[in-house]
Amino acid sequence: TDFETILTESADGIAVITINRPKALNALNQQVLEDIATAAEQFDADDSVKAIIITGTDRAFAAGADIKQMAELDFATAFKTDFFAGWSRLTAVRKPTIAAVNGFALGGGCEVAMMCDILIASEKAKFGQPEINLGVLPGMGGSQRLTRAIGKAKAMDLCLTGRMMDAEEAERSGLVARVVPHDELMDEARKIAATIVSKSRIASAMVKEAVNASFETTLQQGLLFERRLFHSALATNDQSEGMAAFVEKRDPDFTDT
Ligand code: HXC
Repeated sequence: TDFETILTESADGIAVITINRPKALNALNQQVLEDIATAAEQFDADDSVKAIIITGTDRAFAAGADIKQMAELDFATAFKTDFFAGWSRLTAVRKPTIAAVNGFALGGGCEVAMMCDILIASEKAKFGQPEINLGVLPGMGGSQRLTRAIGKAKAMDLCLTGRMMDAEEAERSGLVARVVPHDELMDEARKIAATIVSKSRIASAMVKEAVNASFETTLQQGLLFERRLFHSALATNDQSEGMAAFVEKRDPDFTDT
């Protein structure tokens, strides 16, 4: 499928979605939302894909929701259309997603990155929730996912002042998993994706479900959910293969069955 606002490619089990509105610093309008969600769903359904990378272009991952589009928006329309609820389509993707944050990840841009499973950042990345400067507040998860990721102190600091946080602070705060030199960002993202591709797709989907459950449940319910998933993993060929390969001192050959 051809998309208006993103570029897509896939090879060797790795799909890449590149947000491509560089003139507007990749501001997220309704078309970008539609394109990213549709591409992600198509890759999720594509058996040849096992991991999905989302990245930006030029100076921006995404500088937020499109302010020019939002400036026209009124309460009644936003409420009736449940404005931006469509992003939940991205979080429903079952394959591991990696945000490779190359530059500005502000407002909705930071929020889209936080919808991904693994965040890595270039040294040039800048994160923030500057909605307060526009007289509003985060609307796609900034007050919720950011607080869970970095805690109340930093989340309040960022959301109330609107200041930007650099990549180093983002890693120190627990928002991103790795910071890499700018020119190595996509290589690193592809390496992480290739590692995921080499594993069992059933196991990686179970990991994703289990970790995400920890944000939704009590500890006891989460532990039970994890344990039951573990039990069900024992029913897969990939478990037999993985453990046999260890015992036989060879690399496993997972078949996603
Ligand atoms: C629309 C945007 C944009 C945005 C940048 N542009 N961000 N257009 N929406 N979010 C456009 C600019 O208008 C400009 O277009 C071009 O991109 C280049 O941006 P400049 O501002 O000239 O670049 P620079 O001076 O380098 O400043 C970079 C910046 C700044 C610091 C990132 O652009 C900025 O502050 N952007 C807005 C960031 C923001 O407030 N994001 C949160 C949005 S609210 P022209 O045509 O003039 O050249 C949000 C809410 C989500 O995300 C939840 C909703 C439910």
